[in-house]
Amino acid sequence: MDLLQLDIQTKLLHPHTSHPLNSHTFPIFQSSTFIFDSTQHGADLFMGKGEGHIYSRLGNPTVELYEEMVRDLEGAAGSLAFGSGMGAINSSTFPFLKSGDHLIAGDTLYGCTVSLFEYWAPRFGIQVSFIDTSSVEDVKKAWKENTKMVYIETPANPTCKVSDIVSIAAFCKEKKAKLVVDGTFTSPYYLKPLELGADISLHSITKYMNGHGDVVGGVTSCKNIEDYNQIKSFRKDFGSLMAPMDAFLCIRGLKTLPLRMEVHMQNGIKVAKFLESHPKVKKVNHPWLESFKGHEIAIKQMKGCGSTFSFEMESFESAKKLLEGLKICSLAVSLGTLDTLIEHPASMTHAAVPEDLMKKQGLTRELVRISVGVEKIDDIIADLKQALDKC
Ligand SMILES: Cc1ncc(COP(=O)(O)O)c(C=O)c1O
Repeated sequence: MDLLQLDIQTKLLHPHTSHPLNSHTFPIFQSSTFIFDSTQHGADLFMGKGEGHIYSRLGNPTVELYEEMVRDLEGAAGSLAFGSGMGAINSSTFPFLKSGDHLIAGDTLYGCTVSLFEYWAPRFGIQVSFIDTSSVEDVKKAWKENTKMVYIETPANPTCKVSDIVSIAAFCKEKKAKLVVDGTFTSPYYLKPLELGADISLHSITKYMNGHGDVVGGVTSCKNIEDYNQIKSFRKDFGSLMAPMDAFLCIRGLKTLPLRMEVHMQNGIKVAKFLESHPKVKKVNHPWLESFKGHEIAIKQMKGCGSTFSFEMESFESAKKLLEGLKICSLAVSLGTLDTLIEHPASMTHAAVPEDLMKKQGLTRELVRISVGVEKIDDIIADLKQALDKC
């Protein structure tokens, strides 16, 4: 039997790592430092020679097991875990950019990613253009001599805008620029950006990848080992490694990713169809609906979808009534947890986005974002129905 050919659902449950003391689950190495056998052993490890660990900011066995599991899932040369999704984002972009470089960023991104590029990047001399990356032509038109990177979210938060990874990656390759993809809305179970040509694939694992809503974390995966080494070196000096306890929880969470994603996907589609047919809802942005603008590209590049999407109510007042009238769904930010979460992007997750960019991407005050959980879906639909009836 070829163990390398196992299905990912089996591989995630049987990682090829020997567990200390025959422990069934891999232990939490809750240790900041590691003891050397001799001065030569310590010196060798610092030179990158020999077996062993030095200090947990440089690498920790529990975190490394998690990284290996993600590497196999993404088909990457290497993966690196961080203390947050934002840690993964700045560590996957800044090490490859310097003062005077130009970055093309999607015009629809998570609010803090927008502030990272809008506020912080220019302070380091990096120029940023926010472009509608669902149009490859717009990406080409925005290109400058000094463009070194394209950064996209697909499907993007919160309007689910879909960008064509294959076409953008081909153009980046021609221009010798990097393509970085945030696939948080889907998880690598359904979307594998590296296979489609991207250089770096990253996730907020706070969301679907961990799924239980008990860890804030991020992970980035690289197609080539040079990029991996560059990010690893940046992480060592900027210090945003994931904690061992969090890695333990993320290993546990990742083991059920296939099971969770399949239920999330089916539940999300059912809720999207229910909302689409409801008279109080103006528009639903869900990549699996045929009415959705990016549907064709979505079904071409994704094997399935997550359960986070947005929809527009008639007015801000009715959106507010809906959010406050729900009895089961929780009014909270974040997404991809086992239970259903609902929020108001314009005043919450995307409050930091400048007004012109909100307008450009159709992020209105009437927009509501929902992350459908794995509950018995009839209960969630009944909850939405009773709240919508009062709007
Ligand atoms: C698409 C996306 N990327 C990145 C992040 C940042 O992740 P974290 O909150 O884990 O830092 C978020 C957070 O909501 C997100 O929605």
